[in-house]
Amino acid sequence: MALRRILITGSTDGIGLLAARRLATAGHRVLVHGRDPAKVERVVRELQGAGGQAAGLVADLSRPPTVAALATAVVEKHGGIDVLVNNVGVFLTPDPLTPEGLDVRFAVNTIAPCLLTRRLLSQLPADGRVVNVASAAQRPVDLRALAGERRIADDFEAYAQSKLALVMWTNHLAAALGGRGPVLLSVNPGSLLATKMVREAFGRARRPAEYGAQVLEHAALDPAFARPGACFDGDSGRFAPPHPDALDPAKCERVVETIEAVLARLGVPVET
Ligand SMILES: NC(=O)c1ccc[n+]([C@@H]2O[C@H](COP(=O)([O-])OP(=O)(O)OC[C@H]3O[C@@H](n4cnc5c(N)ncnc54)[C@H](OP(=O)(O)O)[C@@H]3O)[C@@H](O)[C@H]2O)c1
Repeated sequence: MALRRILITGSTDGIGLLAARRLATAGHRVLVHGRDPAKVERVVRELQGAGGQAAGLVADLSRPPTVAALATAVVEKHGGIDVLVNNVGVFLTPDPLTPEGLDVRFAVNTIAPCLLTRRLLSQLPADGRVVNVASAAQRPVDLRALAGERRIADDFEAYAQSKLALVMWTNHLAAALGGRGPVLLSVNPGSLLATKMVREAFGRARRPAEYGAQVLEHAALDPAFARPGACFDGDSGRFAPPHPDALDPAKCERVVETIEAVLARLGVPVET
């Protein structure tokens, strides 16, 4: 298999960290990303110490300007990537609102991967890939909440809406690309994997986190996952139809328009 340059967002912990270890061990060049510089450095040293090729990037993905700066750093400092794994996700948070007035779940789980992908899209090779990490938790998207105009009080509801919004955005862009350029797909890595997020939110796990890391590895590299707009369901271990809203082009378009309107309001162009 050709060796690839792979950025995994949120690879300082959880399934992102485990996937980074697997991919670096297999010889791929891994760009480790996280929000905590010390954790990023620790992971990079660990991967390099084990003989892997790795470099680090630090960015808080709850802030759109920082997401845009991350994309610039990927290209200017690291010469680009072949595979983007948009893995960062937030469920529980002590402070659900960003300084821009967005729910952190929408900012981190939806808007950040969409912006990062759009900013890197023209740099990705035709045989590249974008893996958007979703969840079995999906609820119809309240566009006003996505836009930061209405609060969602329930953490699960905010998380599930942010994940469906990501799948809808992915399907819209995959359809727009029409098979040209990199493959974009969504994956649910499996539910209740033993990670920090699940410990904090549920206090119990159903499967080892390594299971989700394997799903990410396959999604990033396996030719069987080169299916534009497809959704892989880690719970059943199969590709599965997405939530009906993700099959409705008009609904998907409204999600895309809302994300772009938020970014325009914040003065962050989706493309450079
Ligand atoms: N675990 C599951 O059962 C499960 C099920 C379905 C879907 N998922 C999805 O899988 C993905 C990974 O989940 P996980 O369970 O591995 O989560 P996790 O253990 O909490 O790890 C999340 C990673 O994202 C980073 N991160 C969080 N907020 C960030 C921010 N604002 N900016 C930059 N980095 C940030 C974390 O950094 P720190 O190291 O600094 O915290 C960490 O590296 C998420 O998208 C999640 O929704 C997980």
